Amino acid sequence: MNSEKPKEPVGLVIFGITGDLAKRKLIPALYQLALSDQMPDDLNIIGIGRRDWDDQKMKRELTEGIQEFSRSQPINLHVLQKLIDCMEYVKMNFDNSDGYKRIANVLKETKAENRLFYLATPPSIFELVIENIGKSGLSKSKNGWTRVVIEKPYGHDLESSQKLDNNVHKVFSEEQVYRIDHYLGKETVQNILVFRFANGIFEPLWNRRYIDNVQITVAETVGVDSRGSYYDSTGVVRDMFQNHILQLVALTAMEAPVRFNSDAVRDEKVKVLQSLKWLKGDEVFRNTVRAQYTNGEINGEVVQGYKDTVGVSPNSTTETLLAARLEIESWRWAGVPFYIRSGKRLPHRVTEIAIQFKQVPLSLFDWDNVAGTSPNTLVINIQPDEGISLSFGAKKPGPIDQIEPVQMDFSYAESFGADPPEAYERLLLDSMNGDTTLFTRSDEVLEAWEFVNNIVEAWIDHPADEIPNYAPGTWGPPEFEEFIQNDGRSWNELD
Ligand code: BG6
Repeated sequence: MNSEKPKEPVGLVIFGITGDLAKRKLIPALYQLALSDQMPDDLNIIGIGRRDWDDQKMKRELTEGIQEFSRSQPINLHVLQKLIDCMEYVKMNFDNSDGYKRIANVLKETKAENRLFYLATPPSIFELVIENIGKSGLSKSKNGWTRVVIEKPYGHDLESSQKLDNNVHKVFSEEQVYRIDHYLGKETVQNILVFRFANGIFEPLWNRRYIDNVQITVAETVGVDSRGSYYDSTGVVRDMFQNHILQLVALTAMEAPVRFNSDAVRDEKVKVLQSLKWLKGDEVFRNTVRAQYTNGEINGEVVQGYKDTVGVSPNSTTETLLAARLEIESWRWAGVPFYIRSGKRLPHRVTEIAIQFKQVPLSLFDWDNVAGTSPNTLVINIQPDEGISLSFGAKKPGPIDQIEPVQMDFSYAESFGADPPEAYERLLLDSMNGDTTLFTRSDEVLEAWEFVNNIVEAWIDHPADEIPNYAPGTWGPPEFEEFIQNDGRSWNELD
């Protein structure tokens, strides 16, 4: 992987510059890269939007974005100014061929031979923009490279993602396509591979002989808020499971790649997705459980229920909380359940991968074994308290014979003294450097959709009048506890 400062000049064309993603994430990430001198010396940013903005308006808005959302405060005004100075706004409708000619002219004027197109628009426009980039000849540069970064969601189901992918490939070759799953840009997610494959002690245990089950939790306190209409046709299964969570499953379960490069890593991830046991028909209902939040209170704040959100149908059965049991049919993982759970309006924000190890074969100590009920668990804490911890039983000091669970902890903040960088910093840098390792490949995305499609189809074929409810600030209705307890296991404690 190459995370150096890009040496060549770059013309970065951001479609959807007037949107939230650009203001909150992309431009603050570019500022952060500029601050650490990781931006190309010769950079031009061309912001494309439909709104009636001009250069000045765009620069004002994006400056505000940097001031509000940058992780490094106070702002370095010199760096900020330098970044803002290389920006230009092009107002156009995305279906207007003249607009694309204007982009071509700006790129010509700035002599930007290397072009990075970033699609930060609503997904409904992806195909239109790509088609027009193709028609206008912008996808080819005589003396440089051309790449396209595509945000999620990459399709709404298997069929639409295949269609999108076919259209993308009419204009760009796979090497030119950078599909974003921002979880892959998180430092702690990248560390899963380092932890597993740069250390000798864990990998021998990383299999069905020693691991009882794996639990992946992605819990959020936020609700659906202003995204009601998007979310109601999406749910956890499409919004989080098809992409971020299946990526975490793949990284946790994959074999060691033959070398650390983009294709080798992605080859191994795709094998995990291929070996997921498909859930079909009744199996879907036995292996998943859904719920929806009602109105209530979370962290002292009164919040509206999911069905009261603007854009959500009053009869909606879209899940805002999902648990599933997955099986990976491989020699390493046969018989080891992977439990996943993810939802909104949960008691706190936490993303973790908990590896629960098997218990000892015979209990030697005839003591009060408090640790007996809490198995050895290795927890990879993706966010917010980035780190890794291992729990095990220890003898409680004193005359009473008692075993207590204790923990060994590694914390990023303590060991490295700083918060890890934002995912978008790494992903923008890698896309300028031509490194696709942390982006999803076509076959990965389609495999993930194929798996998810069966689940969604079963829900559509057997529609529920209602799904269970849960109050904001709780870990879900009793069905979620029962789901794992019926397997004789329990969720890793998150409180
Ligand atoms: C996005 C989802 O992809 O990820 C959101 O669309 C979700 O619904 C977000 O809130 C979570 O990302 P993070 O980085 O805050 O865990």
